[in-house]
Amino acid sequence: MALLSIRNVFKSYFLHGKRIDILRGVSLDIQRGELVSLVGASGAGKSTFLHVLGTLDAPAAGEVMFEDRSVFSMNDAEIAEFRNQTIGFVFQSHFLLPEFTALENVAMPALIRRQDRTGAYAYARELLERVGLGHRVDHRPGELSGGEAQRVALARALVLKPAVLLADEPTGNLDPATGEGIHQLLREVNREQGITAVVVTHNETLARSMPRRLRLAGGEVSEA
Ligand SMILES: Nc1ncnc2c1ncn2[C@@H]1O[C@H](COP(=O)(O)OP(=O)(O)OP(=O)(O)O)[C@@H](O)[C@H]1O
Ligand SMILES: [Mg+2]
Repeated sequence: MALLSIRNVFKSYFLHGKRIDILRGVSLDIQRGELVSLVGASGAGKSTFLHVLGTLDAPAAGEVMFEDRSVFSMNDAEIAEFRNQTIGFVFQSHFLLPEFTALENVAMPALIRRQDRTGAYAYARELLERVGLGHRVDHRPGELSGGEAQRVALARALVLKPAVLLADEPTGNLDPATGEGIHQLLREVNREQGITAVVVTHNETLARSMPRRLRLAGGEVSEA
């Protein structure tokens, strides 16, 4: 059974009475442990697709199945619980909490789930070291560069060891070497924890380094 099955998903936005069709019947299966890149032109709908996949936004039609559960047939509280337990999300804008340090931001999901504080902070620190920010743990988001903030957001998305990581341009603000380091980390986490990841990127070289590549164009997703 696929870990994620997307079945004929449609999504449109309405603006000033006009309908803009973004996803026009997207279907695909993602197996447990797959590492997938997603490319496509700006405005093609990559973030929209990731939000649907991550249960943050319901499709107009179609289904998202996690194993044998149809996620959008759950109620809102169940969907939120499912998302918290299963999915780590790196947003295109990082959404770090401005008044907390990098370390606190990364540890926060674990603290909210009442995990042991010492363990949560130790693992948060380890993740920050692995994204190359061991020397920035006490900086607040306003004291970080764009690429550093994005790396903190990635560490935060990993702190609960989610089954699925959905990352929207985690390397968008990074120089090639740092970007390659992040992809390296994703491959390591994939190998060590069996995490399933879908990574949106504009960087074709990094996209090609992923075992499976998808392209979003014309409202449809195809193998690239
Ligand atoms: N809330 C909204 N209302 C109306 N239109 C929207 C809304 N959100 C996104 N769009 C439009 O939907 C299209 C797809 O947006 P999306 O953010 O998914 O693109 P993307 O592929 O992630 O682009 P980028 O590579 O620039 O991040 C864009 O043309 C955008 O203007
Ligand atoms: Mg986007």
